[in-house]
Amino acid sequence: MDGSPALDMPKADFKPRRLGHVNLFVGDLEESTLFYTEIAGIELVRREPGIDAVFVSNGNTHHDIALMQCKGGAERRGRGGYVQASSYRGEVPGLNHLAWEMESEAVLVERLRHGVDNGLEIQFSADHLISHSAYIADPEGNYHEFYADAMEDWRAIFNPEREDLVTADWDWQAIENPLGPMPADPNDSRRVEGALFHPRRITRAVLAAETPSVDAFVTEVGGLTQVAEREGISAYRAETTGYDLLIVPAATVPGAGLVGFSLLVEELDDLQRSIEAARDKGIEMRVADTQAKLSAVLRDPDGLAVEFYHPKGDDSMESLPVPGEGDLWVFQG
Ligand SMILES: [Fe+2]
Repeated sequence: MDGSPALDMPKADFKPRRLGHVNLFVGDLEESTLFYTEIAGIELVRREPGIDAVFVSNGNTHHDIALMQCKGGAERRGRGGYVQASSYRGEVPGLNHLAWEMESEAVLVERLRHGVDNGLEIQFSADHLISHSAYIADPEGNYHEFYADAMEDWRAIFNPEREDLVTADWDWQAIENPLGPMPADPNDSRRVEGALFHPRRITRAVLAAETPSVDAFVTEVGGLTQVAEREGISAYRAETTGYDLLIVPAATVPGAGLVGFSLLVEELDDLQRSIEAARDKGIEMRVADTQAKLSAVLRDPDGLAVEFYHPKGDDSMESLPVPGEGDLWVFQG
C-alpha cells in the first residue's frame, strides 16, 4: 500500500481457509486439458461438455483448476436452464475467478449477510452440488468466488463417468439451517503416472493490479492478512496457510489480471526427476534452486506462469516472484 487515500470498500471479512482453486478461460480446451493432465500431472476428474468445461484434481479438493473454453457471449446453461454468468465473460484467455474455500456454509452465509449489510455487491450465487458459492468482483474486475463445500464425497459428482450439468441458482438468503464443515478425505491422493510433473495441490496465485484497490479488496472484503510487502509486491494469507496470494504492480508484467499460480510437489526428489525429464524433452522452463525451494516455472498454452515447487524449509516470504527473461516470471527463493 502506498499511502493513497483510504479506499472505500465494504467490510465483509470472509476470512477463507485457503485458496481452493483457480478457474481459467482458455483458448483451446483440448490443448489446455492435455497440458494440465499430461505435463502438469493433475488428474481429469470431470468433463462438463454442456458448458465446455474440464476440471482437474489430484484429490486435494474437487478441483484445483477449472478450464473453460473462451466463448464470450454464447450462453452456458446449467441445471434447469440456469444461465451461468461465465457465458458473458471470457472473451480472451485468462482468469475467470480465484476461489476461496470457506470453513463451512454456515460461515459463508453469515459473512454474506454481514457483507451485504455493509453494502457489498454480490454478482451472482450458485449451487454446484459439491459446493455453494457467491461471486464478487474486485474493483479491477477480477472475480473472487467464496464457497463452501456442500458434501464430503465430492467424487460422487465429480468423476469422469458423469458429464451432466451441475450448476443451478443458490438462494443463500433463504437458507435457515446452513451446513457445517465437510472435511475432505485426507488420504485421497492421486498421481498421474506418465505425466511430467506430480503436484499435490494448488497453493497460491499471482495477480497483477493497476491500483491499490485490489489490495484493499482482498483485505476488507476477503479478510486476507497481509504478511509481507516488498518493492510493490504484497503477499496475503488466508486462515490456514503461509500465503495464498501475491499482488504485483501491473506495470511490471504484460498486463493486469492473473499472472500465474503455484503447485506444491510434496517430495523433493520427485520434483528433481520431473525437471530432468522436462529438460530431456526440451520443454521451456525457468528453474530456481535456492535455500528456500526448488522451483520450475512453465508457461501453460495461454501463457500463464505455472510454478511447480518444493519448499526446502520454512516456506516463507522469501519466495517472491520477480520478472524473468522473456516475461516468464520466476518465483525466486
Ligand atoms: Fe470456481
